[in-house]
Amino acid sequence: MGCGKGDYTVGLAARYPERNFLGLDIKGDRIWRGSTRAEELGLTNVGFLRTRAESLNAHFAPQELAEIWVTFPDPRPRDRDIKRRLTSPRFLNLYQEIVRTGGLVHLKTDDTPLYEYTLETLQTRPGARILAHTADIYATPELLPHAEDIQTHYERRFRGEGIAIKYIQFTLS
Ligand SMILES: C[S@@+](CC[C@H](N)C(=O)[O-])C[C@H]1O[C@@H](n2cnc3c(N)ncnc32)[C@H](O)[C@@H]1O
Repeated sequence: MGCGKGDYTVGLAARYPERNFLGLDIKGDRIWRGSTRAEELGLTNVGFLRTRAESLNAHFAPQELAEIWVTFPDPRPRDRDIKRRLTSPRFLNLYQEIVRTGGLVHLKTDDTPLYEYTLETLQTRPGARILAHTADIYATPELLPHAEDIQTHYERRFRGEGIAIKYIQFTLS
């Protein structure tokens, strides 16, 4: 979700060739970068979808997806933008419909308020289960074995500035 230049999409596809990965973003020039990289690497298990996150469910059947990754979404700090956060109840409802029962959803973010907001939202959501969370994924590498190998554009930038990267893994049903 909001894959930007597709570093995570391409990174996961290269690491897990037996699975398919689809990066979604509204910005065509960014996903062009990811699709070009995927072609250069000869990957056949990766694709990109240019659409708004709000229209996600027009593209997938119920329970079609095994997992969803939300990587460094815009934090949307203003109260009036809560509905636009990619981990707000509105988006969790969309994910719940298209991720199979027990399927994982992952959030990586540099933003502490978004991390805390997401934990609180999940803690009060019926059926949701937080399986793992950490305020510093690089201090707890056992939670995400590929963390050092697969990083997004924004992740490298924030890490370079000394900002801890937060991670939550959860299921919705
Ligand atoms: C902060 S960037 C992170 C990009 C990438 N995940 C990374 O870590 O490098 C947020 C991305 O989300 C995309 N985005 C924001 N709102 C969106 C929406 N409603 N639907 C689809 N993409 C969206 C932006 O175009 C942008 O590429």
